[in-house]
Amino acid sequence: MELQLHEIGHDFGPLTVLDGVSFRVGASEIVSVIGPSGCGKSTLLAIAGGIVAPSRGAAFTLGAAPADSLNPFTFVFQDAALLPWRSVAGNVSLALEDRVRSKSARAKIIDEALELTGLSAFAQAYPKQLSGGMRQRVGIARALAARPAFLLMDEPLSAVDAQTRELLMEEFLALWLRDRISILYVTHNLDEAVRLSDRIVVLSRRPGRVRDIIEVMIPQAERGRASAARELATLQDRLWNLLRSEARNADRELLALEGADA
Ligand SMILES: Nc1ncnc2c1ncn2[C@@H]1O[C@H](COP(=O)(O)OP(=O)(O)O)[C@@H](O)[C@H]1O
Ligand SMILES: [Mg+2]
Repeated sequence: MELQLHEIGHDFGPLTVLDGVSFRVGASEIVSVIGPSGCGKSTLLAIAGGIVAPSRGAAFTLGAAPADSLNPFTFVFQDAALLPWRSVAGNVSLALEDRVRSKSARAKIIDEALELTGLSAFAQAYPKQLSGGMRQRVGIARALAARPAFLLMDEPLSAVDAQTRELLMEEFLALWLRDRISILYVTHNLDEAVRLSDRIVVLSRRPGRVRDIIEVMIPQAERGRASAARELATLQDRLWNLLRSEARNADRELLALEGADA
């Protein structure tokens, strides 16, 4: 399934948060969105997933979701948003309860999702017994159980430590290489953006406008290799320079405003 965002604009009352944002996420692609905090990234994800209707423009899909998809657009958030009184299996089951009637069919899907995310031994554990990384694995297991056509991920790794982040990225890429779900991935971490994405959309500060769209040409499976390191580092520099100039512009405006006050 392909997602197209066409000239998306959005206002919250008098506050314009997005302006003329257009790009596409092709079938089986990972597209990242980066940009300063408050520039409308989470709003854009909500619009992409059909939760928020945009003030201007349109989000539409091409192609059908797989017939067995229980939830074509599935979100993954920074905190896995697990129910503390449910076990790991119980939390994954949440994605299924109103959609899969048969208990044994549910159990099968849950087992599979836990297996994929390395959580089988933790099926009966409770969220408070798990590390942040493990909880995030549960969030991903729950999302995969719904067999999404599209994953909409909002800074999914920003609450875990650097080592866990590295591990989760590797595991996540392995899952993606297997299933090739289309993914729209919001992050403020440039390393995540260059390691995971086919394309990186750089937004300006609010109102978010597309500053640049950068293709990452190296296949994802090769990005962990030493030979890819230099090219990825160069890309990261380029992204950083774009973001830095956004921050500088903001500082200059602030300075000008203060000058006007004086
Ligand atoms: N429901 C809402 N009502 C009013 N303002 C909102 C709402 N959601 C977000 N905002 C504002 O819109 C701007 C963009 O928010 P958001 O999309 O969360 O940005 P980002 O994810 O890039 O940090 C922020 O200034 C935020 O305070
Ligand atoms: Mg956000």
